[in-house]
This record gives sequence, C-alpha cells and structure tokens, in this order.
Amino acid sequence: MASSARNYQLVIILVMLTFLITSSSGQEPESSLLLKFKSSLANTTFLSNWNAAVPLCGSNISYWYGLICYNGIFIGLQLENMGLSGDLDVDALSQLTSLRTISVMNNNFEGPLPDVRKLTGLRGLFLSNNRFSGELPDDAFAGIKSIRRILLANNGFTGKIPTSLVAIPKLIELQLQDNKFDGTIPAFAQPDLVLDFANNRLEGPIPPLLSNLSLRSFEGNLDLCGKPMPPCLPSKVEERKLSKKNGIRYRSI
Ligand SMILES: *[C@@H]1O[C@H](CO)[C@@H](O)[C@H](O)[C@H]1NC(C)=O
Ligand SMILES: *[C@@H]1O[C@H](CO)[C@@H](O)[C@H](O)[C@H]1NC(C)=O
Ligand SMILES: *[C@@H]1O[C@H](CO)[C@@H](O)[C@H](O)[C@H]1NC(C)=O
Repeated sequence: MASSARNYQLVIILVMLTFLITSSSGQEPESSLLLKFKSSLANTTFLSNWNAAVPLCGSNISYWYGLICYNGIFIGLQLENMGLSGDLDVDALSQLTSLRTISVMNNNFEGPLPDVRKLTGLRGLFLSNNRFSGELPDDAFAGIKSIRRILLANNGFTGKIPTSLVAIPKLIELQLQDNKFDGTIPAFAQPDLVLDFANNRLEGPIPPLLSNLSLRSFEGNLDLCGKPMPPCLPSKVEERKLSKKNGIRYRSI
C-alpha cells in the first residue's frame, strides 16, 4: 500500500516536471510560428494552403507550399518568385529551431537587411533579386557561425562589406554582385570560398588570397586592382613623389 502511494506520488511529480519543462521552454508549435511569420508578409496568395490543421511535412515532401522537409522535419523556406513583400519576421523564425535555409529570392522585399543574427542555426540565406537597401552593420553576420551560403545579389545595399563575413569559418559561397557596396574588399581567407563582387562601387587592392577568383567576379567596380585585375598603380601621392624624384635626377644628369 505504502509503496503504491509512493509510486503514485512519483507519477504526479514526473507529470508535473514534464509539464514544467515543456511550458517553461515555451515552445509554440511550428505551424503557429510559421503563420505568425506569414502574417507580416504581403501579397501571400501563393501561401494560401498554409493551415495549422495540416501537418507541415510528410517524409521528404511538404504539405505547406514553399516549405522544405527532410525526413519529416521542416528545415527550410523556399519562397521564390511569389511577388512577396512586407516584413520578414525574424523573431518568429528564430524560434523555429530546425530551420536551416531561407530563400526569398526574386520577390519585392525592400528596406534594410533583417536581423539575421537571431537565426543562429542558419546554413543558407538567399535574398538575391529583391529591393533590400541601406548599409549593413559591420556585425550583421556575427554569431551565425554555421552558415555556408549567403546570396545578397541584385539588391540596393550600400556602404562597406561587413567584416563579420570574414569571421564565418565555413562560408563557401558569397554573392554580393549588383549592389552599391563601396570601400575595399575585406581579407577573406576561408578555403574554397566562391565570391562575387561584380558591379558595385568597390576600390583598392584585391586581397591576395582572392587572386584565384575569376576576373568576372570583380568587374564593374570603381577601382579594384591587383590579380586578377590589372596591377595596382602607385597612389597619387607616391606618383607625385616619384615624378619629382625622376625630375631632379633628369636635371642633375
Ligand atoms: C529522404 O531523402 C533522403 C535523401 O534523398 C533519403 O536518404 C531518405 O531515405 C528519404 N527519407 C524518406 C523517408 O523517404
Ligand atoms: C503580387 O504577386 C503577384 C504574383 O503572385 C505579382 O504579379 C504582383 O506583382 C504582386 N503584387 C505586388 C504589389 O507586389
Ligand atoms: C589557387 O590556385 C592554386 C593553383 O591553381 C591552388 O593550389 C590553390 O589551392 C588555389 N587557392 C584557392 C584559395 O583556391
């Protein structure tokens, strides 16, 4: 009798613990987080089958349009060519712990880069071909250590290329072409990194470790120099010094 009472107490304690753990982690279901994400988007006709009563994923197929599933787990958003605009609710996305890739390429998003630092598990961020604009904070990519691909091409980004990109150890692809980035190219040193800087307003020497990249990745900028572009000329000041020196030498002959 006494032992079954103790067992009963144990069961109650376990049930309470389970309840405490699940409620204190405060995990909202994935479906409601995704619907919250959708509610800040505009022009979402393509997402009309998103429905909390339907599971997100079969094994490798998604039941919600634009979701990527892998072995029954929701791992990505592929919302391309949908005429989408509005806000990307990063706070809702940041609670989706299995989220690995976000693509909203070829839409009508505008305004500053969303604060992607909250998406710590992200492997791929694909924002090309929208109308995002403004300067990127230097620490815009701090903390997203696992990310491998960042595509920001063909937007209206301005200012310097954030040096936080240099600190991402596993970055293998970075597309910044067709924006308005200015200043110099930071010293990227990740192995096997494919980069594209074409058609911006960059200037100055190309970091030596990037000399293997194709010429095409650097074309259409203000004044980039060094391999694979033409060699850097001496700066204006040095040029003047040089011609003065040569002039003196010439006269003294
Ligand atoms: C899902 O796809 C992966 C890779 O193609 C495969 O290994 C896995 O067996 C698939 N899972 C199911 C349940 O079909
Ligand atoms: C809304 O999306 C459609 C495609 O689904 C697109 O043709 C249209 O231009 C979009 N409208 C706006 C205002 O972005
Ligand atoms: C650059 O090219 C050389 C020779 O083709 C190769 O050994 C080296 O690994 C390449 N470096 C990078 C960063 O791709």
